[in-house]
Amino acid sequence: RYMKRQVACRGDIDSLNAPMLAIYESLIPAEEEMAKQKQLLALLEKIVCKEWPEARLYLYGSCANSFGFSKSDIDVCLTIADADTNKSEVLLKLADLLQLENLQNVQALTRARVPIVKLMDPVTGISGDICINNVLAVVNTKLLRDYACIDVRLRQLAFIVKHWAKSRGVNETYQGTLSSYAYVLMCIHFLQQRRPAILPCLQGMKTTYCVNVDNIECAYFDQVENLFGFGSHNGESIAQLIWGFFSYWAYCHDYANDVISVRTGTILSKRTKDWTRRIGNDRHLICIEDPFELSHDLGRVVDKYSIRVLREEFERAAEIMQYDPNPCVKLFEPY
Ligand code: GTP
Ligand code: MG
Repeated sequence: RYMKRQVACRGDIDSLNAPMLAIYESLIPAEEEMAKQKQLLALLEKIVCKEWPEARLYLYGSCANSFGFSKSDIDVCLTIADADTNKSEVLLKLADLLQLENLQNVQALTRARVPIVKLMDPVTGISGDICINNVLAVVNTKLLRDYACIDVRLRQLAFIVKHWAKSRGVNETYQGTLSSYAYVLMCIHFLQQRRPAILPCLQGMKTTYCVNVDNIECAYFDQVENLFGFGSHNGESIAQLIWGFFSYWAYCHDYANDVISVRTGTILSKRTKDWTRRIGNDRHLICIEDPFELSHDLGRVVDKYSIRVLREEFERAAEIMQYDPNPCVKLFEPY
């Protein structure tokens, strides 16, 4: 029913470039906000190293992957040897230390899927979460940031898609819709698939960066300064790409059989991944392969109800991009 329905995009699509770029610009964090994040990280480093001199702190998630909006919280990862056996203890100790240093709203969530300490810094006004030894998240943050350096259209597209998803209430994993991380991977994959391609497949190129995390080899080409201009043979505008992204997920993606894979820059089949049956809570109704944890489907949170919500939202967005007289308002209308 949905396969490869070809639609030519509206004739006046490029009139949407300027207003879409204005929305993108309005969401970019200001320099001073990034400076404040660095300042908070430095404070946290000072506190942590007094107790654990060999520990390190890394920013990850949207504050470090270049897909963060202004006024976002920061995600911090504390790496410390041998903490895996007693994460709760480390988190509780960390919470004590932060409280002693006058950080506010300090709370250790030791039973969460990813255990964290929450905090708010009264000096900068920034809130954040600290997790322990979640090194894969630090590495996939670098992968996303490296992709963003290659062609500015990735950052523009992903900002618009994230803004749409947040406005429409489909960026809530606890309600069965997708994480921001999943949406960015969908954008990268979409740009890898354009002809000519706008993004390369970094994991398919010569290895210049390689780390081993929890027995997973994370290897790819990270000298992205050499890839600047890679997508310049493709002249598609941002409005065309936004239209194309939503049309793809509304009408062209084969939900029954396909897995999108940034790792290979191609579409894989559910059969080859053995993602054809429901196992436990993994239903594989929309399949997005994690670039490093290959058994991990970022669509695993989607259930039979939320897949309908998601697909209806993709269709709504595609139709607005195709026909609406004022897509820049309608697309982001609160649900
Ligand atoms: P916003 O806070 O919505 O702006 O986006 P974000 O980029 O911080 O994304 P999100 O909260 O979805 O995830 C934060 C980071 O956690 C991501 O950048 C990833 O590094 C990591 N992450 C999130 N979900 C997963 C997952 O399912 N698997 C892995 N390996 N990492 C994940
Ligand atoms: Mg975040």
